[in-house]
Amino acid sequence: MARTVRPRVFVTRQLPGEALGRLSRLVDLSVWEEELPPSRDTLMAQAALCEGLVTLLTDRVDARLLDCAPNLRAVSNVAVGYDNIDVPACTGRRVAVGNTPGALTETSADFAFALILGLARRVAEADAFVRAGKWKTWSPTLLLGTDVYGATLGIVGPGAIGAAVARRARGFGMRILYVSREPKPALEAQTGARQVDKATLLAEADILTLHVPLTPATKHWVGRAELAAMKPGALLVNTARGGVIDQDALVEALREGRLGGAALDVTQPEPLPPDSPLMTLPNVLLAPHIASASHATRGRMASMAVDNLLAALEGRRPPHCVNP
Ligand code: DGY
Repeated sequence: MARTVRPRVFVTRQLPGEALGRLSRLVDLSVWEEELPPSRDTLMAQAALCEGLVTLLTDRVDARLLDCAPNLRAVSNVAVGYDNIDVPACTGRRVAVGNTPGALTETSADFAFALILGLARRVAEADAFVRAGKWKTWSPTLLLGTDVYGATLGIVGPGAIGAAVARRARGFGMRILYVSREPKPALEAQTGARQVDKATLLAEADILTLHVPLTPATKHWVGRAELAAMKPGALLVNTARGGVIDQDALVEALREGRLGGAALDVTQPEPLPPDSPLMTLPNVLLAPHIASASHATRGRMASMAVDNLLAALEGRRPPHCVNP
């Protein structure tokens, strides 16, 4: 970067891989080294000094923060989702916003499928059972689960990750249904998936998997009415955002046994409070928002985020820019 004064950049956590080393050679870099995110006050104070921010989904970037950051030109999120960022507010202040699509598609789909299998075949319960010394003998009725092979998978949001889950489902001989505004002919040709309306999806899916971004339109997409319309005993898997499900309604449906179980990589809030009923329900499989957490993928995400940031600081449109 041919400048005498290097732009100041704040990164809200250490990132894996080579990306921050590369960034440090080009900008005046400050990295938050703690395990927990910087406080709101710290983030605002840093934003006030910086031309660039590299953020995670834990860091809220809103109009109030932007108003304190007159020199800010770029916010680069290390995630494909960017519901933590007020994009219109950024656009209005000519702040570019970047994200990391593509980098995590297959890794996230692997994990969604791991949750599908883990929930249906009760893997975490089985592990806990053995470790607790409860295993006395082989039993014809021990820890019976649901077959994934041959089951109907309902996909909400057949974008890149949803489609990657569908490809895995095809290998398991699943029948695949999806809801979407647009038909997806390539997905249908590749996986045999069929577009249906919401009512059909809810009524026919044995396993429902969520892959939509969190927006006002998708908030509580799975609410009380949807849970009531689902097939009795169906399984629900969420690797999207916690807010896509009405969690109180979910707890009710699980407690009443209407829903067979839920596997949640994402919740509202994150982390869940220790007294959340989800923590004690046996038919719930929980993970700490790690669908994209492989060494290679997290390194790729960091690298893409740095590429986006550097482009914006050089006055170019970031390669992955979510501003209109
Ligand atoms: C994302 O990228 O939005 C995931 O939730 C975290 O990798």
